[in-house]
Amino acid sequence: MTINCYRAAILRFGADQQAIYEADGLLVLGPGPTGVPVVLAVGPYAALAAKFAHTAVEHLPGRILAPGFIDLHVHYPQVDVIGSPASGLLPWLENYTFPQESRFSDPEHARGVAEFFVAELLRNGVTTALTFATSHPGSVDALLGVAERLGMRMITGKVLQDRHSPDGVRDETEQSLVDTETLIQRWHGKGRLGYAITPRFAPSCTPAQLRGAGELAARYPDVWIQSHVAENKDEIAWARALFPQSRSYLAVYNDHGLMRDRAIYAHCIHFDDADRALMRTTGAAAAVSPTSNLFLGSGFFDYAAADSAGMRYGLASDVGGGTSLSPFHTMLAAYYVGREGQTKGGLSLSPQHLWWQHTAGAALALGLDGVVGNLAVGCEADCVVLDPQCTPLLARRTAQAGSLDELLFAMIVLGDDRLVQRTLVAAPV
Ligand code: GUN
Ligand code: ZN
Repeated sequence: MTINCYRAAILRFGADQQAIYEADGLLVLGPGPTGVPVVLAVGPYAALAAKFAHTAVEHLPGRILAPGFIDLHVHYPQVDVIGSPASGLLPWLENYTFPQESRFSDPEHARGVAEFFVAELLRNGVTTALTFATSHPGSVDALLGVAERLGMRMITGKVLQDRHSPDGVRDETEQSLVDTETLIQRWHGKGRLGYAITPRFAPSCTPAQLRGAGELAARYPDVWIQSHVAENKDEIAWARALFPQSRSYLAVYNDHGLMRDRAIYAHCIHFDDADRALMRTTGAAAAVSPTSNLFLGSGFFDYAAADSAGMRYGLASDVGGGTSLSPFHTMLAAYYVGREGQTKGGLSLSPQHLWWQHTAGAALALGLDGVVGNLAVGCEADCVVLDPQCTPLLARRTAQAGSLDELLFAMIVLGDDRLVQRTLVAAPV
């Protein structure tokens, strides 16, 4: 395996979550212990150049090397429902999402959408994603087949939904659990791929299906879990009516063995302090999905309350409820959501903290800190080459940035896929 050296500005994160920025840095990528390329060295060019004097260096003047972004919650079958108008979550699911997902019974359709989705993620600088497939097992094979070919880190799972779901997407309790275990054994830990046990949300699963999912989660402790919780008021009332024995909607998942490290719950908006404490004590993490929450009118994630509870969280597009696969759009929407919290006494989110939530913070939520989401020595070599001169306005604005915060903010506010000049994936060799 070759060693690749890049000279450019470099953005990464320290253990204190603060950004480390080298205006003139050297990033050295090469063979890691498992066959996946990793960061071998990173730091100021002046300090490292002599050590790598015999290696060719690709000079990228004016460019910024940054960690590949992590999307902590996205639905690949929903690229074709982005921007579908509805009064709220439940009519949106019924009128647009379920009909579109039913098309994934056709493996050819699944493969075509998977190819498109992965290409779009990479074009937007996303190198790791925790992704919902559909209830059809073939939808998992389609996505992981594409990700495997590209060497991309992808985690997904067959959706579990054995009730309150129309024909075409509803599955059957026993078979859904058998299919889940088969897919875990086929894919989890194969190269850079991972499996996530994926109950859609409590209202679409019988207690027997949730129990079975919890049993699988106990039997396969390094498999991920993903679901939705506390997104929308009507959804919450429905979940409470279906599971009256549980203390809260979130507690339904805990009562079925579905909260632990590596469990990622999308939204987590309408929580009380006991819910937030449960997230912290179990090790579960929130996938904050601001463009989706604004588009579907679901509400605002409470950053101040999450921080004071010590809950883990990271950023997610939640496409197709979400409106964009661009991490820049998601970070900007998160900033607006933090602003809303500020009016209630919360703190405005800093650009460094926004960026961290979509990279190293999301990796921490996944239990993959030190593996992806950063350019520290030993991290897998997933990175983006950003071109702050990619549009006239970005060039003009970033040229006048007087600090790192100003530079990051200009990119968050004005950036999109044009900012991502290249995406490097640490494909195993
Ligand atoms: N709750 C259950 N299913 C979904 C989904 O597909 N998208 C969102 N945003 N919420 C959900
Ligand atoms: Zn979702």
